[in-house]
Amino acid sequence: MARTRSRAASVASSLIFLLFLKLLPLGNGKADFQVLGPQHPVVAMLGEEAELRCWLSPNISAHLMELRWFREQPSPAVHVRRAGQDKPEEQMPEYHNRTTFVDLDMARGEAALRIHRVTASDNGSYHCLFKEDRVQEGTTLWLQVAGVGSKPRIQVIHTPDRAVWAECTSEGWYPEPKIEWRGQRGCAKTNFSVSATTGLWAVVSRVALQDAAVEGLSCSISNPVLPERKVAKSHLPAPFSRGSQFMKWRLALPLSLLAMGLLMAGVICLFGKCQREVNRTQLMEEIERGGEDPSLFTVSPSLDPDTASPKLIVSEDQKSVRRLLFDQDLPSSSRRFERDPCILAQERFWAGRYYWEVEVGDRKAWILGVCLESVGREGRVPKAPQHGLWAVELYKNKFRALSYPRTPLSPSQPLHKVGIFLDWDAGEISFHNVADSSLVYTFHGLTFSGPLQPFLCLWTHDPRPLTICSVVRKTQE
Ligand SMILES: *[C@@H]1O[C@H](CO)[C@@H](O)[C@H](O)[C@H]1NC(C)=O
Ligand SMILES: *[C@@H]1O[C@H](CO)[C@@H](O)[C@H](O)[C@H]1NC(C)=O
Ligand SMILES: *[C@@H]1O[C@H](CO)[C@@H](O)[C@H](O)[C@H]1NC(C)=O
Ligand SMILES: *[C@@H]1O[C@H](CO)[C@@H](O)[C@H](O)[C@H]1NC(C)=O
Repeated sequence: MARTRSRAASVASSLIFLLFLKLLPLGNGKADFQVLGPQHPVVAMLGEEAELRCWLSPNISAHLMELRWFREQPSPAVHVRRAGQDKPEEQMPEYHNRTTFVDLDMARGEAALRIHRVTASDNGSYHCLFKEDRVQEGTTLWLQVAGVGSKPRIQVIHTPDRAVWAECTSEGWYPEPKIEWRGQRGCAKTNFSVSATTGLWAVVSRVALQDAAVEGLSCSISNPVLPERKVAKSHLPAPFSRGSQFMKWRLALPLSLLAMGLLMAGVICLFGKCQREVNRTQLMEEIERGGEDPSLFTVSPSLDPDTASPKLIVSEDQKSVRRLLFDQDLPSSSRRFERDPCILAQERFWAGRYYWEVEVGDRKAWILGVCLESVGREGRVPKAPQHGLWAVELYKNKFRALSYPRTPLSPSQPLHKVGIFLDWDAGEISFHNVADSSLVYTFHGLTFSGPLQPFLCLWTHDPRPLTICSVVRKTQE
């Protein structure tokens, strides 16, 4: 509305200007010069300076001319310069003490008006008029004011109808900004309002939350007229989302681990940089020996983000996966787990024997295993061997094998890192507690109808990740 109105106003002012040039008795001589100005709007930041430049063509001297910058009407003006003097008495009050005439090269007809402490109301069109005796010529200039508002604030709010919202607010923008939410599903409700005193825009935007423990949600606000699309961004506490934000979180983690006093006794595993403990069982010893058995591969599968449920987010190195509170808006795909918070790795294992390790840390609920590529991805994933899925699960403090029927398990000590061994040729899948090298569970006597892929699920909103380790052999240490 406001924009349309001001555009109409600037069209109207251009018309008035033309009329002024045509009708005033002053203009009865034919000018032998032309006034030129920038073709494109001059962009000026709020509170800073704007320079409105005009010059003559041909580049004759303007020393004896009157120069006048004005908005809709020639008088009062924005600035008048006559006989080498500024004429503040002919100035609009809103430009008092805010303008400076700049002699760029008056001998060649070049001058500028500098406007200081630019405000929103300075936005729009200007005219620049050169007058000599009874002859005058002018041109129209455009000033585009741009303001980047305050850093958006995000907070969780509860409304009387028991709804929970994330609310993002920011003010001081010009012109009307664009707002974008990341890490949520559903529509944002956004109100823009413009301050009557400053003419600047404020934004209040809300998205509905499923519950109050929020992570991975960000709100970014950008100015549409700035070429570099200046963006202000905020996250709710415990940020976790794609790309650079993930990196930030990753940098912060070692510090918090230190602060926690190295909870993970004897094991430091930071996203793929895992170190093994020493004592090994038979399989582990075989893994140690490595190389001797060409059919045994210790691997570090990479997660496949295209299969990741919208509830999950994969780290940049594709070794870690985390649970989000809100589903992301992702293109739906037949490869993606639509409902369950699960993901596959990219590797497909055929013949041979493979071993890999997954750091589960203190995460309270998860599934680790392998599955056939054909496993159902829409709705609930059928988690049982007869559906091509072999896995172990920790859920509600109960640890069990997802055999049919289920097998309760009680490992000798809590699992922080799980070793998974797939012996394709022997039809065997076993799970190991890396901490004490003990065997946790084995599925045997299997035949596989196709390649198997590592399969992981992250139950509950526990923000702790699952991380695929790169197995460091003792011999390499
Ligand atoms: C401006 O004037 C100078 C001489 O004073 C001349 O050499 C030059 O070509 C002129 N430039 C334009 C753009 O008219
Ligand atoms: C401009 O500055 C003068 C002197 O610094 C002051 O007296 C006057 O009130 C100012 N005018 C405005 C409009 O601020
Ligand atoms: C600001 O000025 C520019 C040109 O100077 C114009 O295109 C734009 O519509 C103006 N914006 C507002 C919000 O008035
Ligand atoms: C937007 O304005 C409407 C009407 O004034 C109000 O009911 C609604 O709560 C506002 N929404 C936000 C996000 O402030």
